[in-house]
Amino acid sequence: MKPKYYLTTPIYYLNAEPHIGTTYTTIVADVIARYKRMLGYEVFFLTGTDEHGQKVMNKAKDLNLDPQEYCDMVSGKFKSLWKDLNLSYDYFVRTTDESHMKTVKYFINKMIENGDVYKGKYEGWYCIPCETFWTEEDLKDNKTCPDCGKEVKWVSEENYFFKLSKYNAPLKKLFRENPEFMQPTFRRNEMLNILESGLRDLSITRTSFDWGVPLESDPEHVVYVWVDALLNYISAIGYPDDSEKFDKYWPAQLHLIGKEINRFHSLIWPAMLMSVGLPLPEKVFAHGWLTVNGEKISKSTGNAIDPRILIKTYGNDPIRYYLLKDIQFGRDGDFSEDNLINRINSDLANDLGNLLHRTVAMIKKYNGGKIPEKGTPTEHDEKLYDLIEKTITNYKKEMDELKFSNALETIWELVRFDNKYIDLTEPWKLEKNDEYKGMLDTVLYNLLDVIRLVSLMIEPIMPETSQEIFKRIGVEDGTFSDLSTGKLESGKNVYSDIPLFPRIDVKKHKKVIKMKDDTVKEEKIDKEEKVDEENVVGIDDFKKLQFRVALVKSAENIKGSEKLMKLKVQIGDEERQIVAGIAKHYRPEELVDKKIIVFANLKKTKLFGVESQGMLLAAKNEKTLKVLTVDGDIDSGSVIS
Ligand code: MSP
Repeated sequence: MKPKYYLTTPIYYLNAEPHIGTTYTTIVADVIARYKRMLGYEVFFLTGTDEHGQKVMNKAKDLNLDPQEYCDMVSGKFKSLWKDLNLSYDYFVRTTDESHMKTVKYFINKMIENGDVYKGKYEGWYCIPCETFWTEEDLKDNKTCPDCGKEVKWVSEENYFFKLSKYNAPLKKLFRENPEFMQPTFRRNEMLNILESGLRDLSITRTSFDWGVPLESDPEHVVYVWVDALLNYISAIGYPDDSEKFDKYWPAQLHLIGKEINRFHSLIWPAMLMSVGLPLPEKVFAHGWLTVNGEKISKSTGNAIDPRILIKTYGNDPIRYYLLKDIQFGRDGDFSEDNLINRINSDLANDLGNLLHRTVAMIKKYNGGKIPEKGTPTEHDEKLYDLIEKTITNYKKEMDELKFSNALETIWELVRFDNKYIDLTEPWKLEKNDEYKGMLDTVLYNLLDVIRLVSLMIEPIMPETSQEIFKRIGVEDGTFSDLSTGKLESGKNVYSDIPLFPRIDVKKHKKVIKMKDDTVKEEKIDKEEKVDEENVVGIDDFKKLQFRVALVKSAENIKGSEKLMKLKVQIGDEERQIVAGIAKHYRPEELVDKKIIVFANLKKTKLFGVESQGMLLAAKNEKTLKVLTVDGDIDSGSVIS
């Protein structure tokens, strides 16, 4: 029997249409779901929409629509966008579904039966955009919501309360004994701090409006939207009626969420489950926010990026690749169209697209378009096989730890080496001599076998590309059981007529991200004008430059030059050689083991006949020169921004 993997996204509020920020969580969840399926898990991937509460009700009212009618419309938009984005969810839950509402009633009744609910008076503040209760002490000085900064409303209502405080100690125990429950660690610590200051009981019903699930025992009250929403994770798998399905999938392996809704998932949700005696989810992972120019993307801040326009312009897979490569999962990250274009041109078109194109062209030219059998070995094969093995191991490790950017970096090292293998083995020379036919076959076979392996590994991240590559190289379909060398079938025909990723001509291309808020736009124009005046660069130009932390592994003076030194540095998993004009100021051994700053995407060049792949940064005046280092320890490869 296959092991199961139950994974969820948050369910999305319907007060706004999906934007690239809300799309982000769902794309990442889709990557995990596809990866786990490839590993052989029976995956249940859940997403859906959060339809009750004051915020959604007000929005429907503003539009003069009945709330249900409004929800049907916007929920449909989410569904259709998810389809266009090729997201492979297994079930789409809606909190207005009859079956969900039934679960909510049942669950609250159980909490009541267990003595965890009491009636009281709630007097305090409420933030409608966040649907969150706040006390006086929680508020910022100007009486705004501590989470979103918006205005809060005074609420004075008779409510039912959940004895959340009773679960403070059990939650502390959970956090202490099971660090894996909440990740990343820095967010887990934030939750521990809240637990240290003590949880207050939670108001779980409202009476001032009726767009929600009525309490069975007191229908004047509707259930608080967060309590209602969290229960989607069990209503969607049949709790309590379909016990077979529920027992099969619960507990969830992973709740994927954004950082601002961590408290609800890591504290309130487990307390609710403890109250009715259900097992807890295995892991809650809270990721960071996508920003545009440092601002969170949302309708209200006016910088929502319409994902449809993005996918129409750039395609699904390049956007998925960019999001997973450039944004360190867990941390905030800035969405930059320039960087997206750079990635498409360099990593996708240049590295991967060209590799496929060159390889297929050679198979056509030297072997009539058919994949040859592997022949006699070449002296460069062992290095390639070692790297393949290392890549597969590292890829799985990084994916298991949700370190997608590292996983992609690992794959791309192999892509780049495969390109280099062409230069090392020089097939055009092998072709000239019949004696070398066996070697030529090996080279062609190996090149394409690597492409097959790369295609398998990128499948969760770029499923459409992976299928396209398979088609072009005659592979039916693949699972991770094919993830080892030599499994490419010989004798199949190959083709690669159009580029896998067309290059974007930066000069002619019209960018599509527009800041919707005019004032933001104006500010930007204003800034750009100043840039011209002062002859300095704008932030977009700065963002094109990649500065990384590099660990110096070795250094030596370049013979015949007074100034130049050759350094071997480690940038993450990558080794590079850099030539720097620092020999008058440093002895080579002084630099070894230093963590320095490198301008990493500088075009390769040769200095004094020695290749340099980047430039180190140094501060200089007339008398001296000092190499820039980092203040404290940080991994090599870390990004400087
Ligand atoms: N309805 C609640 C969740 C209930 S789950 C039981 C909610 N909805 S939301 O639509 O406001 O947000 C849903 C998810 O989208 C959250 O995880 C949130 O972090 C994520 N994002 C919304 N804007 C985002 C960005 N700009 N960047 C990254 N994620 C973003 O909260």
